[in-house]
Amino acid sequence: MAGGKRVAFDNKVIDWIDVRLPLFTMMKNEYGVFPTPKNFNYFWNFGALAFFMLITMIASGLFLAMHFMPSSEGAFSSIERIMRDVNWGWMLRYIHMNGASMFFIAVYIHIYRGMYYGSYKNPRELLWILGVVIFLLMMATAFMGYSMTMSQMGGWAATVITNLFTAIPVAGESILNLLLGDYTVSNATVNRFFVLHFLLPFVIVGVVFLHIVALHMTGSNNPTGIEPKGPQDTVPFHPYYTTKDIFGMGVFLIVYAYLVFYAPLMLTHADHFVEYDPLVTPPHIVPEWYFLPFYAILKSVIYEGLFTPLIVFEWVGISAKLGGVLAMIGSIAILFVLPWLDRHPVRSARYRPLFQKFFLLWAANVVLLGYLGALTADATILGIPAYLIGQFSTVYYFAFFLVILPILTKIEKAKPLPNSISEAVLEKNKSKKSAKGAAAA
Ligand code: HEM
Repeated sequence: MAGGKRVAFDNKVIDWIDVRLPLFTMMKNEYGVFPTPKNFNYFWNFGALAFFMLITMIASGLFLAMHFMPSSEGAFSSIERIMRDVNWGWMLRYIHMNGASMFFIAVYIHIYRGMYYGSYKNPRELLWILGVVIFLLMMATAFMGYSMTMSQMGGWAATVITNLFTAIPVAGESILNLLLGDYTVSNATVNRFFVLHFLLPFVIVGVVFLHIVALHMTGSNNPTGIEPKGPQDTVPFHPYYTTKDIFGMGVFLIVYAYLVFYAPLMLTHADHFVEYDPLVTPPHIVPEWYFLPFYAILKSVIYEGLFTPLIVFEWVGISAKLGGVLAMIGSIAILFVLPWLDRHPVRSARYRPLFQKFFLLWAANVVLLGYLGALTADATILGIPAYLIGQFSTVYYFAFFLVILPILTKIEKAKPLPNSISEAVLEKNKSKKSAKGAAAA
């Protein structure tokens, strides 16, 4: 076979197909016998779980699209019809709605796992960059799906977010009109959001394909961050990780099913169940939970409090609105250059105590930003204005990437690394055994 070694299959039909179209050989090489580090922990389940959610979202979305009417008049009422009159429509909707949350949960854990264990470092930079592209596409897809429902929250989210583009000097207004297809959220808006919401998941499938190809060029990272040194450090992907992934999926599905069947509205907002009214602004416009940290960053850039010195930006024409938009875009864009901001030779946080602490603080800070993102502009926490706390959190968010990581690259002394993955695994088992022995004595 040109380009690689074909595997012979016992099953005659499979073999016949494989000679002509070597899909089964590819599956066997890339997933069956693929040598995979033998020390994965459960955090390595989340790539497969994200993939499972992508398929679930496309499948449930296809059936919803058969009943959804993408027009300003029809959108909200067609969803009501799906909930009440379409057979199993309520379940389809709840699977899709809560599926978006489960998808983001899987992907956030997947990203943070990658950051903790340094999976973005040489030679996996491109794999990481493709991941960030997927993340951006996911955000765009989720935003348009939510907005096109013409609910109060959806319609106003579309208004608020598209309006941010007017902060761009000169071209802002034209971009806004292009996005909305009108001067305000209208029929044209619902139509184009629906088309893009339908299309983008298939673009995501394409980028995920490239993501996996890139992964299979370099092989996976692992909790030690050390590359496998030979067959003693790896196991075949099947049955070891297929079984582990299926187990992880079982646990994940229990949580997902709980949301769908017992708490389907837990993660959303009451105003998402009221029809859009352009004349009545909801008292408190908030995005879905997965956007909240970025929303908090957007809201933090005001030329008051901690950011008073930033008033100079206003003098050179960067309004607080534009500053907020730039900070929000920057908070994701900075992930693209992460492999070059952290150039420390040791990958895993296990052997980098300083990086470990700063990273965990950064992750907790993102959760705090998420909390702040949901608060009203005049909220206080323990008497401190929430926007001030948001400004400190925003500063730490960026300082972690732009100051702490480059400094740690230069000064951090890593703990001694094990010689190989096998040695690390055996060490761990030995210390577990001696702890058990001590407890028994
Ligand atoms: C639809 C979304 C995504 C899917 C389906 C997906 C799928 C996968 C799969 C199946 C793996 C191998 C298993 C694993 O290591 O968990 C993987 C690895 C990886 N992904 Fe993703 N991914 C997605 C999004 C992302 C995002 C948003 C990022 C980062 C911004 C990312 C970064 C990585 C990295 C760095 C690895 C290598 C991990 C390692 O070797 O330790 N992925 N991805």
